[in-house]
Amino acid sequence: MDNAILITGFNGEIGRQTLLSLSKKEIPIIALDINESDIKYNNVVYIKDSILNQSVITSIFNDYNIIEVYHFAALLSQSANNNPELAHEVNEEGSQLIINSAMSHGIKNESFIKIFFPSSIAVYGPRKLKNAKELDIIKPQTIYGCNKLAIEQFGTQRHEESIELGFGIDFRCLRFPGIISPYTIPSGGTTDFAPQMLHAAYNNERYTCKVDSATTLPFLGIKNAVEAILQIMVIPNIDSKLRAFNVQETNLNPKEIIAELQKEFPKFIVDYDIDSKFQSIADTWPENLNCDEATKKWNFVNNQNKNIIFEEYLIPEIKKHYGKH
Ligand code: SER
Repeated sequence: MDNAILITGFNGEIGRQTLLSLSKKEIPIIALDINESDIKYNNVVYIKDSILNQSVITSIFNDYNIIEVYHFAALLSQSANNNPELAHEVNEEGSQLIINSAMSHGIKNESFIKIFFPSSIAVYGPRKLKNAKELDIIKPQTIYGCNKLAIEQFGTQRHEESIELGFGIDFRCLRFPGIISPYTIPSGGTTDFAPQMLHAAYNNERYTCKVDSATTLPFLGIKNAVEAILQIMVIPNIDSKLRAFNVQETNLNPKEIIAELQKEFPKFIVDYDIDSKFQSIADTWPENLNCDEATKKWNFVNNQNKNIIFEEYLIPEIKKHYGKH
């Protein structure tokens, strides 16, 4: 049986760029998503189905020797709030199914299956922390944050059981802040205002922001987000009970984002129409993350510079991206 990598939710913002990077490896990739793919890579087997379909998950693990799993399929924070039952099913039950299937596969093959799980700043709360560390107060105030925390804990527990058994899963997790991608315009999240503003500014569109101008949140460009995923997965052994690590590039509020964007797009205009569904969530998420653990474990670089992410990455890259279309 061939070794293979499983990626779920590959059509999402992070999944899409991770699949692009993984597709460069010389190993078959099984890519599962509820939506059809619009890009086809040669070494990828595409499966259009739900992570809740147990028989599909079982047959993937029966048909391939899965050695790594990247599990992105999820509802984001606002979508989860709008549909809590579906969020519980997809974000928790679906993730448990993937973790348990990988664990059984590892035990059967007497090996450890590496699993990457994207957690979120949504695990923090109830009040806005500064320089939040992994073990600071984590009392999530949203369905989405509760789902993420439940899976961090479930995966960590399965990881501990695997160590005891000598086989099973090797669970690895990053707590992502808001992700900014020059390639896609996200929806369904609370941190979406940052990438949405970037795309609106480039496209000469006026933007209405749903959180107030001083709402500061941590962010990470998609390139460094994918880089962090590849880095945490390549470490042979993370010798630590801590399985979920903070990563961020810088922290920003709408006012600062607008100032950065207006340097390049001086006509960019933003109106505010505060939506309590967004504001009340953003107010429980940290202002910035302490990334010392990630720096210790794999030299994660957290440069903190608010200009660099725009000037050296997002603006040149969005121009290249739209230039192509
Ligand atoms: N970016 C996500 C959201 O806003 C948080 O992880 O829902």
